[in-house]
Amino acid sequence: MLKVLASSSHENVQILRSLLRGVAEVVPTDGTLESMLKLGRDADILASNRVSREYIEAASRLRMIQTFSTGIEKIDLEAVKSHGGIILCNSHINAAEVAEYAITLLLAVAKNIIPNDRELRKGDWVYAFGGPNPNIEIRRKTCLIIGLGNIGAEIARRLRAFDVKIYAATRSGDSQHAALVDRLVRIDKVRPLVESSDFVILSLPLTPESEGLVDSTFISWMKPTSIIVNISRGPIINERALFDALKQNRIRGAGLDVWWRYPPKWRGKATPPSDIPFQDLDNVVVSPHRAGYSENTEREYFQFAGENILRFIRGESPLNIVDLTRGY
Ligand SMILES: NC(=O)c1ccc[n+]([C@@H]2O[C@H](COP(=O)([O-])OP(=O)(O)OC[C@H]3O[C@@H](n4cnc5c(N)ncnc54)[C@H](OP(=O)(O)O)[C@@H]3O)[C@@H](O)[C@H]2O)c1
Repeated sequence: MLKVLASSSHENVQILRSLLRGVAEVVPTDGTLESMLKLGRDADILASNRVSREYIEAASRLRMIQTFSTGIEKIDLEAVKSHGGIILCNSHINAAEVAEYAITLLLAVAKNIIPNDRELRKGDWVYAFGGPNPNIEIRRKTCLIIGLGNIGAEIARRLRAFDVKIYAATRSGDSQHAALVDRLVRIDKVRPLVESSDFVILSLPLTPESEGLVDSTFISWMKPTSIIVNISRGPIINERALFDALKQNRIRGAGLDVWWRYPPKWRGKATPPSDIPFQDLDNVVVSPHRAGYSENTEREYFQFAGENILRFIRGESPLNIVDLTRGY
């Protein structure tokens, strides 16, 4: 019987167990290196979002790593490469939910929702009809989506309903979802699209190539009325450059779900999301990295992971195999 080590003590591990009954034993761990080595040094398959070099080097039988959610930057890709013979699979199952959330952040910034709510709770009607910060209209505007993969495509589909012209940029200049957008360019040709867009949404993976993509130069191309939304990974934006631009009103606003700094323990307290006080700016909507978290997605993570592991065990090609050289 094959052994699947699952880095999760969530009750949904039960979903993996029932999908893999009769073909593999599922062993849950708390994800610490110590317990992973103790319980799963001999695992054939690992289901986890975080995998260290030490575990990969010790797990000589390992043939597949399956993530639960999307994003593999917590998996040591160099160790996976040197081990040889490991297939790494991403999830992408939460793409539609993340797209809904990206558009929610865009609307929240455009319509001033957070300051409106905050002031009215205090009895202050400053933002009533006719007050400061009239709502920004979405319709007939142009949105640039950077990264037209699973999430970018779901964003494009939804923005169509708002009567928005859609531009996109990708690493290759191509995408299987190209038909969803009005223009698609390679990322090194993005400047004219940034200059003519009202909104920019980041939905690309964090890689050495994309880190710092949105720097002070990129921001200087943006219209002073534009809004940026980031639901991908914090370090794709240079935090100081964005903070300065927002503080000096060189762009209209930002909706940020992902950050440069996280608490040592997930869902911890007393850790501001950046060294710079974004939370003090009125033109930013801040969100604690939960774009992909819905009433259903946690269950779906486990369902997808189990089904994909089953494909692998049956000798079928699993979905979402990561290109180890590209890093996504
Ligand atoms: N906030 C959250 O809770 C949350 C949830 C899920 C995912 N995410 C993040 O969102 C990212 C995207 O997810 P996805 O499922 O849409 O990924 P995906 O399907 O792999 O799509 C990746 C897209 O990004 C493009 N890309 C890659 N590197 C680029 C670069 N340097 N410049 C421009 N475009 C680039 C790719 O272009 P090519 O096809 O040309 O290579 C592709 O169009 C994930 O990696 C993860 O970090 C966040």
